[in-house]
Amino acid sequence: MKFAVFGGGLALVAILCALAPTSAQNLAGYSMVGEPVQISNGLRVALAKAGADGSWEGEAETLTLDAEFQSDYRLRVKIYNTTERFEVPLKIQPTSEGNNNPLFEIQFWSNPLFSFKVIRKSTGTVLFDTTPGDFIFADQYLTLSWTPGSENVYGIGENEQHTFKHDFSQNNTWALWARDQPPEFTKNMYGVHPHITVLEDDGNTHSVVIVNSNAQQFTLSSGPTINYITTGGILDLYFFLGPTPEDVVKQYVEAVGRPQMPPYWGLGFQLCRFGYDSLENMKRTVERNAMYGIPQDVQYGDIDIMHKNLDFTYSRERFEGLPDYIRELKTKGVKFVTIVDPAISTGEEGYRAFDLGNELDVWVKRPDGNPVVGQVWPEDPVYFPDFSKNSTREYWITLLKEFHDLLEYDGLWIDMNEPANFYDSNGDCSDNNLNNPPFIPEIVDKNLRSNTICADSVQEAGNHYDVHSLYGWFQSEPTLAGTRAGTGKRSLVLTRSSFLGSGHWVAHWLGDNWSRWTNLHYSIIGMLQFNQFGIPFAGSDICGFLEATNAEMCQRWQELGAFYPFSRNHNVVGQPDQDPAVWGPAVAESSRKALLIRYTLLPYLYLLFFRAHNVGGTVVRALWGNYPSDPNTRNIDKQFMWGNGLMICPVLEPNKTEVEAYFPNTRFYDYYEGSEVAVKGDWTTLHAPLDKINLFVAGGSVLITQG
Ligand code: NOJ
Repeated sequence: MKFAVFGGGLALVAILCALAPTSAQNLAGYSMVGEPVQISNGLRVALAKAGADGSWEGEAETLTLDAEFQSDYRLRVKIYNTTERFEVPLKIQPTSEGNNNPLFEIQFWSNPLFSFKVIRKSTGTVLFDTTPGDFIFADQYLTLSWTPGSENVYGIGENEQHTFKHDFSQNNTWALWARDQPPEFTKNMYGVHPHITVLEDDGNTHSVVIVNSNAQQFTLSSGPTINYITTGGILDLYFFLGPTPEDVVKQYVEAVGRPQMPPYWGLGFQLCRFGYDSLENMKRTVERNAMYGIPQDVQYGDIDIMHKNLDFTYSRERFEGLPDYIRELKTKGVKFVTIVDPAISTGEEGYRAFDLGNELDVWVKRPDGNPVVGQVWPEDPVYFPDFSKNSTREYWITLLKEFHDLLEYDGLWIDMNEPANFYDSNGDCSDNNLNNPPFIPEIVDKNLRSNTICADSVQEAGNHYDVHSLYGWFQSEPTLAGTRAGTGKRSLVLTRSSFLGSGHWVAHWLGDNWSRWTNLHYSIIGMLQFNQFGIPFAGSDICGFLEATNAEMCQRWQELGAFYPFSRNHNVVGQPDQDPAVWGPAVAESSRKALLIRYTLLPYLYLLFFRAHNVGGTVVRALWGNYPSDPNTRNIDKQFMWGNGLMICPVLEPNKTEVEAYFPNTRFYDYYEGSEVAVKGDWTTLHAPLDKINLFVAGGSVLITQG
């Protein structure tokens, strides 16, 4: 049986197909009740439980699936039931275009269990087919499996990934749950982005985004099949049909919010470390970098500038004179960005951040109504502001404004906002279905409270169980608003924890990476992913954060990091200094050389951000982002491009003076020599002495420069 439904002039197409029953009979699932009916902008399907019993508490007997044809290129498939469930309070923006001629069609199948397929009409490619696997919608266990439109799948974050293109033969599970977690293969890290981009075999591209903030996981196995499991919320899928890789990102950020426009100085080189420990050391670092002519636009303060690790303070012993120094830096064109953690100490007499928090009642609560208590950097226990409350927004903006009267910061850095908690809440978390749900994804420690607060903590937007991974997201907009109120300028906010749409307010660095050669490569993957996630202002700590680096690694990393959209050298407490000047003339000189190329090209970089901010798209992209129909580009994640104009081919290994690079079948010119590269559509070996990063300009592009 097969029929099509057409909506008045909307050309909505639903095809209902019934085939002979297959072995899928022993799967858990649903069957269709009646035929799809038309709703204002799409089709509605009623479903009733069928197939095998999934054996999960609270399996919905009936479900509704709404396929909303939101535009020609945007399809939403929302699956929900009649009970009230948590939905992420992310406002999806309407599209600017109508749905007169959708690029897709959706088919509903009864085989005999219900499944659906999303198909690209122009090519017939099946982009998403939910036939394989169980389809379960229980209280705390929701699962769906699908065959993606190709094996060229990119994205899902935030986890350390070793290849940009996923490898389906590895059966990897990528769990998402915001966590204070240094990068380690597959482990769930700071942000949550259930976001996949698929490059179809013919070069068309689409993305699939699941708007869900619960603890969740994706397993990619051969087939290819993707199994998705989440522990709450609803199944709310958005498809962005592209068809070009850049279209897909534009369409995504149109929905979740286009990226923030960084201030021009934010694109300059930035120096940071945890553990300057005195103003003298900070000054000495700035001076030695200036001495070597290394351009610096931003100096950071980490928690060691604070008095007793307390937010909104500075140490008048170790950093006496800091306010004057910040003013002095500004006269030299160097801005100051400093850190703020969400955790507010409860142990200080007359501490404004705590007193005002009590007055406005801003804290995350336990189920008994008392504030949740944790331990972070201050010596005394801390409370956590509930940024999902309006009063907390006011609280935070007030504090950030007042803080600017103390230290004239130009931007702020929000850290530990997963939220991180050093205190083991174990004993405090009651044994209930939020703290100990029936299913826990493959997250670190296999428990929700690890490194954070109990899942039954209460926030205005919902139980921490549902809103945990939104903590940094809720904090981001108020921080930008407060920073702007404080500085009176566009300003800049750098966050560790992020979620869908965070890029609308904040930049992101890739967290506590390691001073290891492998991490140069992984930083490219992370940066490319965050560009697809709509947070183009991204980069990793140059020369690595954890552990000691060495001169050669730092030299290569400075060269690579000169081409991160967010370019900052940052180091952990207790490790030797690693700023580009500390190594002496050789490292300093090649860092300077690479950074001066960055500065020469800053107008181009700024233009790329301006476009991303105005119409969407990436700033840096993989080669396939510009050459999607060239199959040779699909696995390349050691080279990348700024826009479509500049190709960067860094050295990512020790003891190398050569690097292999791929040149798509078009004209490229050597940045330094201006000569045309003879190789086209092939790999070649480039000469790469220690002081050089290979750069190429794509023929036909215009790169705006400055002196
Ligand atoms: C953790 C952050 O990831 C790191 O960058 C920072 O230096 C430390 N917290 C101290 O604030």
